[in-house]
Amino acid sequence: SGEELPSTDIITLTRHVLSDQFRAGAVATGDLTLLLTAIQTTSKFIATNVRKARLINLVGLAGETNVQGEEQKKLDVLSNDIMINSLRASGKTAVLVSEELEEAVIIEDKYKGNYCVVFDPLDGSSNIDAGVNIGTIFGIYRIKPGSKGTIEDVLRPGSEMVAAGYTMYGSSANLVLTTGNGVNGYTLDAALGEFILTHPDIRIPPRGKIYSFNEGNAMYFHPPVVNYLNSLKFPPSGKSPYSARYIGSMVADVHRTLLYGGIFGYPDDKKSKSGKLRLLYEAFPMAFLTEQAGGLATTGTKRILDIVPTSIHQRCPVFLGSRDDVQDVLKFYKGGG
Ligand code: AHG
Ligand code: MN
Ligand code: MN
Ligand code: MN
Repeated sequence: SGEELPSTDIITLTRHVLSDQFRAGAVATGDLTLLLTAIQTTSKFIATNVRKARLINLVGLAGETNVQGEEQKKLDVLSNDIMINSLRASGKTAVLVSEELEEAVIIEDKYKGNYCVVFDPLDGSSNIDAGVNIGTIFGIYRIKPGSKGTIEDVLRPGSEMVAAGYTMYGSSANLVLTTGNGVNGYTLDAALGEFILTHPDIRIPPRGKIYSFNEGNAMYFHPPVVNYLNSLKFPPSGKSPYSARYIGSMVADVHRTLLYGGIFGYPDDKKSKSGKLRLLYEAFPMAFLTEQAGGLATTGTKRILDIVPTSIHQRCPVFLGSRDDVQDVLKFYKGGG
């Protein structure tokens, strides 16, 4: 029983995406692979800044307010700049939408490519200064045939995205990706500077034991949400109540939901008429990943990926996670509460 030698055949994210293309027999142009390489680089660059933030005066406010009326943190602004620069320079993008920029960025002809990237450069801003997990979320569309790249190329349902993912900056940096063929997770090996396949074919359990809502908003919640949450906390006798976990970084809450199962929700309520999370660069990518992992993602009344956006920063209610758990919420909505 000899000890196993370390593997000499590691699967990097780039290798894995390429092998997917070989398997699909696609006449791959390699453009999407190169775009994903650019995104990987931004995640590595942001990850190293997150790690050093406290040491290099990167905590705290930047002094400006974004289009959502949120005070920008220094890391929000830095991460946005890193992504805009890298995505433009990749030569593979035509339209960029960022949480931190009011208008979409239309890439000039010199650098124009065939993809549009919508992104939340730094998700979980409120957690930065406490050193709690934060992340980056992205979704990718291919421009419509014949288009030169306009806002219309991103005002499309999430079901038309060709890829989506997030990187979570936690105890390690984890990039979780779908290109429409399941979900895979990669962990950054900082010494190699490569994302290595560590979570092949992530499948969300059909039912979980955890619910993840900001219940501090309970006084504003609508009856279906209140009654659903009560059903988790006060189950019929003999059954155990659910555990509560809420980090306040969508990336971290969704990451845990994908791996452990359960439900994450940010509903619309009496105060936030469309909820809080942004459709294009928060709800769509996470809904795409969740469905690809075998779960469901709904507003309570509609499949998230079917929504046709009318503006780039619009918000949408979100319930996502294990199939059976999300179906339970839907029952409360259908029953009128
Ligand atoms: P961002 O930091 O990109 O603005 O996103 C914050 C979002 C999301 O990460 C999280 O799920 C949610 O806001 C938390 O909101 P509350 O603080 O209202 O719970
Ligand atoms: Mn924000
Ligand atoms: Mn966010
Ligand atoms: Mn953000």
